This record gives sequence, C-alpha cells and structure tokens, in this order.
Amino acid sequence: MRVILLGPPGAGKGTQAARIAERFGNPHVSTGDLLRFAVAWKTDLGMKAKRYMDAGELVPDELVLELLKVRLSQEDAQHGFVLDGFPRNRVQSEALDKSLSDIGQRIDAAVEIVVPEEELVRRLSSRASCPSCGRTYKRRDGTCDTDGTPLFQRDDDKPEVVAKRLRIFIEQTAPVVAYYVPQGLLARVEGVGTLDEVSDRIAKAIEDVRARAGN
Ligand code: AP5
Repeated sequence: MRVILLGPPGAGKGTQAARIAERFGNPHVSTGDLLRFAVAWKTDLGMKAKRYMDAGELVPDELVLELLKVRLSQEDAQHGFVLDGFPRNRVQSEALDKSLSDIGQRIDAAVEIVVPEEELVRRLSSRASCPSCGRTYKRRDGTCDTDGTPLFQRDDDKPEVVAKRLRIFIEQTAPVVAYYVPQGLLARVEGVGTLDEVSDRIAKAIEDVRARAGN
C-alpha cells in the first residue's frame, strides 16, 4: 500500500504515519527525518539542506528528490510505504507519480489531516523529539521511552520559525491537496482527538479510497 499523509506542520503526520505504517505493515518514510539524519551525519546533502530547514523554508526539490529516491529504492519500500512530509509542491507530486509509474505502480491514497491553526501552534510549541529514533513527545524534557536518548526541541519549532513554516505551508504545500482530487485519491480527516481516534479515521479513509478505486 502506497499512502501519502498531507497536512500542515503539527497536524500529526509523523505521529500518525508511524501508527498507520505499523497497522498496514509498510515502512514510514519521512523526508523531514531523512533530512534531519543527513544534517546530523553532516553529509554534503545535509549541509546544503540545513540552512533552509533552520529558516523554516522548503529544501530545494533536487536535494529532497535525491534523498527520497535512495530511500524508496530500499528493499522494505518495494511493496509500499507511508509517506510523511512529501510531496510539498507540485514538482514533487509529479516526480513521485513519474517514478512510481516507471515501475508500474501508483499512489493508493492521499490523506489530508485537518487541524485548526491555534492547535498547531500549541502542539509545536510544546513538542520535543528524540534525535535518535524521531519519536515525538508533548513534554519538553526527559528521555525517549523507546531508546532512552535525551529529548530535544527542534530548531524549527521556535515561535518565529513555526510562523514561517505555517505561512510556507499555506503558500506552497496546501495546493498539493488539489493534485489528488481529480485522481479520486484524496480523503480529509479531522486531526483533533485521541491518537487512536485519529488513526482509526485515517485507516478508514484509506480503505474507503481504495474501495472506491476498486483496489
Ligand atoms: P517535517 O519534519 O516534515 O516537518 P513538518 O511538515 O513541518 O511537520 P512536523 O514534523 O512539524 O509535524 P507533524 O505533522 O509531523 O506532527 P507531529 O506528528 O510531529 O519538515 C521539516 C523541514 O524539513 C521543513 O520545514 C523543510 O525545511 C524540510 N523538508 C521536509 N520535507 C521536505 C520536502 N518534501 N521538500 C522540501 N523540504 C522538506 O505532531 C506534532 C505534535 O503534536 C507532537 O508533539 C505530537 O505528539 C502532538 N500530537 C500529534 N497528534 C496529536 C493529537 N491527536 N492530539 C494532541 N497532540 C497531538
């Protein structure tokens, strides 16, 4: 199953992508995590991407596409994936479609997670992440429940950067949603509720889209 989770910063894409990936037995692929690992490892690509990420801007398409191509060529992604943070503009949507159609595949569903802006700001300002596994928490301190690594606040979760990320989402990424409507692949779900409630809504939305498409 090849699924895309769309939505603004703080909508819960990363949180839900991990849960949906586990539920459907496919890997969770996050371009944000791939980029953060590239920065942490100080790769050439990571060094080029860092200043865009710190500023809350989109990393240039050619860098993100290169990273994603390598990740999607790995064995565990051959039978499906749950994509989080990609695509973020039309160029990326078209590039993904093209690389899938080259191997006779296509996206099965694109799910937009909808959350009011004040809730997004509230979530991002109180979020901490594990630098090792990427798991997120609604508390600022302590260690990761999964691997014990001390938690940190992402540089791009500072209030001025959050405001810019939200603006860039509205200008550049929100229109991506419309790309999936004519293909009959788009579903919208309410992103406020318990994690289980939101996961159930997303899983149902994916099944509904697939049933409509006869998959
Ligand atoms: P990326 O890492 O993709 O960040 P983002 O899209 O801004 O999304 P976030 O990770 O901030 O939020 P999320 O929706 O995953 O929410 P989460 O689950 O963490 O990108 C970072 C940067 O990398 C970009 O700015 C850009 O520079 C670059 N980049 C990445 N991909 C790119 C691309 N394709 N092209 C170009 N550049 C790219 O949840 C947020 C918080 O809310 C957490 O604390 C969580 O615990 C909490 N939460 C989740 N669900 C709920 C709920 N139901 N109720 C209450 N709290 C909840």
